[in-house]
Amino acid sequence: MKIKIDLAHAGNAESYAASNYKKAEEIRAYLCKDEEDYTGWVNWPSEIPTEWMTKMEKVAEDIRSKCDRLIVIGIGGSYLGTAAIIDALGGSKKGCPEVIYAGNNMSGYYHAGLKEVIDNHDVCLCVVSKSGGTMESRLAFSILKDWMYEKYGREETACRIVAITDPAKGILREETDAEGYVDFEIPGNIGGRYSAFTPGIMFPLAVAGVDIKALLKGAEDISKDETFWQEGLKYALARYALYEAGKSVEVFEYYDPSLRLIGEWCKQLFGESEGKEGKGIFPASLTFSTDLHSMGQFLQDGHQIFFETIVNVVKREKDVIVPESAGAELAGRSLNEINSMAVKGVMAAHAKADIPMIKIDVEDMKEEALGQLLYFFMMSAAVTGKLMEIDPFNQPGVEDYKQEIRNLLGQ
Ligand code: PA5
Repeated sequence: MKIKIDLAHAGNAESYAASNYKKAEEIRAYLCKDEEDYTGWVNWPSEIPTEWMTKMEKVAEDIRSKCDRLIVIGIGGSYLGTAAIIDALGGSKKGCPEVIYAGNNMSGYYHAGLKEVIDNHDVCLCVVSKSGGTMESRLAFSILKDWMYEKYGREETACRIVAITDPAKGILREETDAEGYVDFEIPGNIGGRYSAFTPGIMFPLAVAGVDIKALLKGAEDISKDETFWQEGLKYALARYALYEAGKSVEVFEYYDPSLRLIGEWCKQLFGESEGKEGKGIFPASLTFSTDLHSMGQFLQDGHQIFFETIVNVVKREKDVIVPESAGAELAGRSLNEINSMAVKGVMAAHAKADIPMIKIDVEDMKEEALGQLLYFFMMSAAVTGKLMEIDPFNQPGVEDYKQEIRNLLGQ
């Protein structure tokens, strides 16, 4: 596997993880049976029909030929995976449409600006909503459709829309069937934040030129690798041990800004999975070395309510050699090498402050490794959630604020 878990700096959590391994193994074995609601994602990487992969690649090719901007309309689990993977890979592949996002907020300022940005471009829409009724995506979809009707007319607009939603229910499903949009399904038993390997995320990635077969292979390989999980499950156990020891915040840390959205994806996955019934670890994320110059002070010296999870990419695909003018001790070194010294230096400083740290080494940031990493986090969130005795697959709290907004709008 391209992922390695290092608990050497995780304090007592390391021995807890070693001696409680059986518990986590039983939970994973139970999840693999896919008997509980919303556990469809567990074996999904091996179960996704080949025809779906073929259709995604075929439709992606068609969309690529029609536009230079693909607007992905979706929120939460219906867009974060797409954005995180595209950013981690350094953007759309050469010659493929740039992917931009709508419907992940309700800001009029943002969406007015978006219309200006796309004004001189050829645009297609990919609307992703499992429920089909989420307010943010509904609003953005109607605003952008209106803009498209003016630019392309109604018939051509329908040919530029790909809808990804529940196979059977919801208003987006009804509209899709009525208007004849090209569509893909998000399987009924897979929830938003566990949908990284469904068409909701993989189709827009295919349009951006991402190798979705390699991404899926990564997820499938890790999902079946029993040897890996003997070590891999220790992450979920260590998180639980640290939580029980009073560490109620997990800070995900990256040493490359292109991983920032992986942090956002993790926040959604862990926050929405675990934060319920007065329990859960609050997920935060920081990009280093940027945030060392702000939050670095808090980490080193502040209220010790947290532990750190460092996602360390071992080999980056690009690098720069530092020129002479930077001074004798830096000149001639690679910037990535200096960055990896920063990982070691910061960990040494934080070890002195007794901060528990979990390091996840990822071999590289290519599709296969990303598939493994995302699946690994999904399994870890589910296992820690089960250890906490909460349901990692529902989100009852999200409904409350939605209802309050609906009340204010008189709906
Ligand atoms: O993980 C989840 O279930 C949520 O974050 C959803 O993905 C998000 O609310 C969007 O929902 P929908 O796809 O139904 O529009």
